[in-house]
Amino acid sequence: MRRPTPRRGWFVTFEGPEGAGKTEQARRLHDLAVEAGLPVALTREPGGTPLGEAIRGILLAGEAASADPRADALLFNAARAQLVAEVIGPALARGELVVSARFADSTLAYQGYGAGLPLDELRAVAAFATGGLTPDLTILLDLPIEDGLRRKAASAEENRFEAAFEQGFHERVRAGFLALAAAEPTRFVVVDARLEPDAVFAAVLRAMERLPDLARRLLGPRVAGNRGR
Ligand code: TYD
Repeated sequence: MRRPTPRRGWFVTFEGPEGAGKTEQARRLHDLAVEAGLPVALTREPGGTPLGEAIRGILLAGEAASADPRADALLFNAARAQLVAEVIGPALARGELVVSARFADSTLAYQGYGAGLPLDELRAVAAFATGGLTPDLTILLDLPIEDGLRRKAASAEENRFEAAFEQGFHERVRAGFLALAAAEPTRFVVVDARLEPDAVFAAVLRAMERLPDLARRLLGPRVAGNRGR
């Protein structure tokens, strides 16, 4: 007798340029799930596994703009493959919510739109790395480049990608994310990340209504828009 296919959980990603607040918003969504008693895994890219964190160290500490974008793309995808195999895939198979700060769309935006690599080739590499896994919902936290870089500079968290690439690169990344969102309007929700964190989170919760079963588990009878923690 065949066993029933395990119920698949939900995969929600946060994307956006530097300093958009992805980590903070992902953490808030994770904390809400914990409060609601919904099993949840919180991950970030690059990283999220011992191998991924080692790759993160290589990628973000590297010499300014010295790496070839193809090498970058492969390293990001190597970290991603491990994250899917070790964390995301098993959690989804258990029916959990997985929340990730960045995923494959970041490679399309940075190494594709930003650094000029062909999108179709990057998509093929990502499909290989992830086994074709795509998020159920992607929240694009959008804000002007100057605002994001200013936030980052204030937090003293600058990495190679923020420091080494000129304004034009970051403008292309932002425009790239918006193009990806426009091309897949059912998967993406664009949120104005210039707002206060509470207002951004309220918009994030409204976006959850795209996944009604998840929204019900997270919010119960509460109205998403009223919750502005
Ligand atoms: P991180 O500290 O996570 O930045 P942020 O807090 O803005 O998310 O560093 C990740 C950096 O790596 C960021 O500059 C974007 C870049 N990146 C890529 O270029 N390609 C990718 O596929 C991913 C996942 C990240």
